[in-house]
Amino acid sequence: MQIGIFSNDNEIARVGAQRIVDVYRNKENFVLGLATGSSPLPLYAELIRRHKAGDISFAHAQSFNLDEYVGLPRDHVEGYANFIHRNLIDHTDMPEGAAHGPDGWADDLNAGAAAYDQAIRDAGGIDIQVLGIGSDGHIGFNEPGGSLVSRTHVGVLTEQTRRDNARFFNGDIDAVPTHCVTQGLGTIMESRAHVFIATGQGKAEAVAQMIEGGVSGRWPASILQMHPDVMVLLDEAAASQLALGDFYREVWDKEHA
Ligand code: F6R
Repeated sequence: MQIGIFSNDNEIARVGAQRIVDVYRNKENFVLGLATGSSPLPLYAELIRRHKAGDISFAHAQSFNLDEYVGLPRDHVEGYANFIHRNLIDHTDMPEGAAHGPDGWADDLNAGAAAYDQAIRDAGGIDIQVLGIGSDGHIGFNEPGGSLVSRTHVGVLTEQTRRDNARFFNGDIDAVPTHCVTQGLGTIMESRAHVFIATGQGKAEAVAQMIEGGVSGRWPASILQMHPDVMVLLDEAAASQLALGDFYREVWDKEHA
């Protein structure tokens, strides 16, 4: 992992956006994996800014969201397909139909999940995936105790995740869906590269377990230790429980001098 620790969100957004622009410069028809939630919002704002500055085009790109709630009306403002359109896609030149997400409304959710994995394969795989992390260590909505090699599947959200996400539903945990469709950890691991973002004290334990704990289904994000190309971008609070934070800072400074 390349681990960068920064004092503010703008710096994280700048470094993360540059990583994605670099992928675009090598491959105009790049395939971008997208996380929702609050962590990547500054990154998406910066990508939109870079797009308007002419540094990146999405005209030949496709995107694949990590996950989707099950049980929300299709037009619900917190549905992840809507979220990603509102916060990124609608401000770019990505053509209609090129932004994909798991189908949380399919009559047969399992068949829809398998079709989503196939769609990612048909697109040639994801070139770079944006990731956040739950306070319980999930990536996508892969909650603790699941398979480390799972494919896109229907999942159940932990109470902790529903409590964390209640802030998007007027603080009402009962309004947060109990189920989701998520890329599996096996699917996520096939992405060729990752930009991972975590900010705030609430993520500190999960981040420490991800980077310095054993690889374990208890902390699903720890599977990323097995991936060769993960850029981890943290603020000081999210990095605060790392035992070797000073060493990671030194390595980052030497490699990005
Ligand atoms: C969202 C997703 C989740 C979030 C995580 C953190 O598509 O896959 O893993 O990245 O729950 O959410 P925030 O950034 O809102 O704290």
